[in-house]
Amino acid sequence: MINFDSKNKIFNLCNENFSYIFCINKLGYLIHLYNGKKIGNIGIERTNEIMVERYATYDGTKEICDESYYFSQMGSRFECSSFLTANTRGSFASITHTDGTKLTNFLYHSHKTIYGKVDPKDLPHTRFNSKEDGETLIVTLKDVKEEIYLDLYYVIFRNLNVLVRFAKLINKTGKDIKINRISSFELNTPNDDYEIISLHGQWADDREIETTKITHSNLVIEDNRGARGFKQNPSVIVKNKNASLDYGECYGISLVYSGDFKIEARLDEYDNLKLFAGINDENFGFVLQNNEEFYTPECIFAYSSNGINDLTHTFHDLARNHIIRKEFAFKERPLLINSWEPFLFDFDTEKIKKLIDDAKELDIDQVVLDDGWFGKRNNDRTSLGDWEVNEEKINLREVIDYAHSKNIKFGLWIEPEMISPESNLMKEHPDFALFDRGVNPTLMRHQLVLDLTRDDVVDYIFDKISKIFDNYEIDYCKWDFNRTLSECGSLSLPKERWDEINYRFMLGTYKLFNRFVERYPNILLESCASGGGRFDFGMLYYSPQIWTSDNTNPYDRVMIQYATNLFYPLSSLGAHVSASPALGMQEKAIISMFGTAGYELDPSKLTENEKEQVKTFNKLIKEWHYVITEGDYYAIKNPFEDNFAQWNVVTKDKKVSLVFSFNYKGVQSKSRFIKVKGLDKDKYYFNSLTNDVYKGEFYMNVGINISAPLKEGMTILVVLKQVNGVVKVVANAKANKNKREKLL
Ligand code: GLA
Repeated sequence: MINFDSKNKIFNLCNENFSYIFCINKLGYLIHLYNGKKIGNIGIERTNEIMVERYATYDGTKEICDESYYFSQMGSRFECSSFLTANTRGSFASITHTDGTKLTNFLYHSHKTIYGKVDPKDLPHTRFNSKEDGETLIVTLKDVKEEIYLDLYYVIFRNLNVLVRFAKLINKTGKDIKINRISSFELNTPNDDYEIISLHGQWADDREIETTKITHSNLVIEDNRGARGFKQNPSVIVKNKNASLDYGECYGISLVYSGDFKIEARLDEYDNLKLFAGINDENFGFVLQNNEEFYTPECIFAYSSNGINDLTHTFHDLARNHIIRKEFAFKERPLLINSWEPFLFDFDTEKIKKLIDDAKELDIDQVVLDDGWFGKRNNDRTSLGDWEVNEEKINLREVIDYAHSKNIKFGLWIEPEMISPESNLMKEHPDFALFDRGVNPTLMRHQLVLDLTRDDVVDYIFDKISKIFDNYEIDYCKWDFNRTLSECGSLSLPKERWDEINYRFMLGTYKLFNRFVERYPNILLESCASGGGRFDFGMLYYSPQIWTSDNTNPYDRVMIQYATNLFYPLSSLGAHVSASPALGMQEKAIISMFGTAGYELDPSKLTENEKEQVKTFNKLIKEWHYVITEGDYYAIKNPFEDNFAQWNVVTKDKKVSLVFSFNYKGVQSKSRFIKVKGLDKDKYYFNSLTNDVYKGEFYMNVGINISAPLKEGMTILVVLKQVNGVVKVVANAKANKNKREKLL
């Protein structure tokens, strides 16, 4: 998997399908040679050709080593670009040295290969299940002037087209140095008409797809609001402009990090694509003391030569097999009902017990008590930090016992990183709030953020919430985060080091999550941030599911789910049916089935007919949830470009597929076919829409005919089940027809 040609100094990292090749040039720079579809070794006679742009050697900036060899800071494709040298096309890292100068220039020092994986300390990361999963190359570079070492980590996966990169900086200078910028990942590769697909959003508009051509102007995908990727998501796709869902080369880049990040993409003056990904350097600095180490977050670099769907499979498989906690990754998730949308803060013991009764009646597995159960929290102005049950409002033990006596699981909402100015915590520990005391801090949702850069604050708040989770039998926890960081100042750090706060805050957040999952390994976590404001692989490392959006309007949901599915597995999307009047129960239930389903409504307001529908759908959702948890997802039609959203999910053994189609505008008298993907072309499948049996190749090429007049918002679910032959199953289908019609 990792081969080093010591004579020619070429590193060749590859698996069955994918190669990533770079070399150490004669001056000690790491130079990128190739990445993409697997190729054999590159001979040394060719490396000079691809190491440096010839044009760059004509302008007087070349540094000729000998007759046959040339080098240029301005034109070489670096693995780790230098800062303040003749390379002016962006840098991997920038450091203020002990003497105040900033020139940062790393050269090869040594390397080693590890069978298995190394993880970045204190940060969420991809995990290996065994050493067989891949290998790690660590290349140590040394700054040309100072005793500063940079370890570049390259983790290549054996069975997935994934290379994970991160870096570690080590200070051996004997004094403090300051990191001003440090990337997790850099890529320099010749241009191939690239464009970048990114996801941007805000509250209730959680992820929208945007495709932008990569030009010679720097394109920045980032978030800089402290602790979540809401403005833009830390996952992007870089693709050739002709690449589509099922065709062409594309890369996926994603940071396993929930804090400020920045992904930069541009073409340099020689038309090389230059990509950087890592911590956002806008509000970042870090004083690294002698002998200290600094780890960057991991960056996933995934590759496909077969289009976006294939890349999506890689991300979903990576998440389920190597990021989400093993105990939950493939476990069926309970169908839940949440108190927030029906009751907001207005509930009591009787109301929640009634919700439990209703859940039982409707075949729902879990009741979640959302915000409002603690302190004096009857509105959002107060009590964050006061994690004690509001006994006047709710008898928590009684409702939990009641739920469990009916075999209903019980979940609880928390928002541990926050503090309300109006709270006992603020009275007792005003220093715990994270803000610059020289200004009036901006309150968002009337709250401030706790100073999680401090271990004592992490300890305090963990003790507080563990009193609840130790003393009550709670099966699930919704962990929220409802504001961004602003005007940050910590009483424990000198002011000149306040640019470390956002990164340190994330370390504190991850500490809190780590402690929680270690102490309560069986509690299912669902993270949340004003809806889906913190949807990233860093969070998925702790919480197997994430609330996708506070927007439960089905028209918007379909788009938000489609965009989220690009990177994140369907089982990680909390997808609930709400009381939204935009569409009926059937449509909303089908949409929520393609995630981890649940309800956000007051069952006592449902008509008898709606209750019957809910029960029917719950059966269907439970019957097919394993397909969502385990299967391969294929996008068919992109609602950001089309009147339709269509997709299907196929089990790995190709025996079952769930097919989804949704149309926005009504479509009269036009013929429409859903061209299903990923079936076994030679096997027969029974379809639940027309009760017919056709071969896989028929569904994939001719398609399922849905050409009846399609009303606006019409939502179609088709279950395809592999069967042994046509005759037998058509007979079965006829026998089952009436039953099926009742079900769908
Ligand atoms: C956020 C979440 C909601 C709900 C409220 C409670 O907005 O996204 O689902 O939990 O907080 O305050």
